[in-house]
Amino acid sequence: MKKIGVIGLGNMGRGMALTLKRGGFEVVGTDAIAATREALTKEGISIRASIGEVIKECEMVFLSLPTAAIVEDVIAGSGGIIENARAGVLIVDTSTSHPDTTRRMLVKLNAVSMELMDAPVSGGPKGAITGTMAMVIGASAKNFERAEPILSAMTGKRVHVGDVGAGHVAKIANNLFTASHLLIAGEVTRMAEKAGVPTDQLLQGINAGSGRSFVTEHSYPTWILNGKFDSGFTMKLMRKDVRLSQELIQALELDLPLASKVAELWAKSADTIEGGEDFNRVVELGTR
Ligand SMILES: NC(=O)c1ccc[n+]([C@@H]2O[C@H](COP(=O)([O-])OP(=O)(O)OC[C@H]3O[C@@H](n4cnc5c(N)ncnc54)[C@H](O)[C@@H]3O)[C@@H](O)[C@H]2O)c1
Repeated sequence: MKKIGVIGLGNMGRGMALTLKRGGFEVVGTDAIAATREALTKEGISIRASIGEVIKECEMVFLSLPTAAIVEDVIAGSGGIIENARAGVLIVDTSTSHPDTTRRMLVKLNAVSMELMDAPVSGGPKGAITGTMAMVIGASAKNFERAEPILSAMTGKRVHVGDVGAGHVAKIANNLFTASHLLIAGEVTRMAEKAGVPTDQLLQGINAGSGRSFVTEHSYPTWILNGKFDSGFTMKLMRKDVRLSQELIQALELDLPLASKVAELWAKSADTIEGGEDFNRVVELGTR
């Protein structure tokens, strides 16, 4: 069985590594934080001290990293993947990153005979640990086919949306929807409460009608109404994703006023809701 690498063993990378291991793959991983490396060793993942060691051993290496800048550093920075290049290795970037970064990294990796595809994910830490994530994939047909047996072991749904970079465009679009739906749901539920309709009753009506969304059907009952706010996805990461959407819109020279208002509100949320808090807390914007 081929060895699979995972670089970045946080909320998502940990679950992916453990799911692959459960699926019968030999998994080696690394992370920038020593405590994370130790915790994953205890959970049975073979940990390596450097990116170079992971690349040396694996045919396919997943990245699950916080930002596009960190992805770029891990691929092209000092001690990174390109400095430790090995021909034929396929890098699968599951981070939510910028499509321009992804396409630039493709050129650099191809120059050292390595391959890249973007495969950002939905479903949170629970989806990662249970192998039920959804993936939007940007890849050549050849690499999509090559990765499919491994991707199918770690996801419930995979959609090949186009060439390299297309996965990140689709993921940014997806999260712009979610970020917008949360804001409007926060406002609409406040309107209905003040007009005398409690949120749980309102949502039963909305979810039977055409205004429903993942946020009204899933996020409210699972993380918001019960006060748990434990989705595993943070304010900081969603603010990053909304910023990514703005960068993409600006690079495309588009004028999208609603998206721009959504970005303004998410940026403003940093004044009252800390980065480590659950991203669903944004429904409370303006009330705390
Ligand atoms: N958490 C979610 O629900 C969720 C859902 C979908 C997509 N995502 C995306 O997946 C990515 C990872 O998210 P997460 O929630 O797991 O983040 P996280 O912060 O929990 O994990 C990221 C990990 O990367 C490690 N890391 C940072 N720099 C590194 C480096 N130079 N070398 C090696 N490791 C490094 C960190 O130490 C950390 O353990 C992000 O791009 C996020 O937007 C997250």
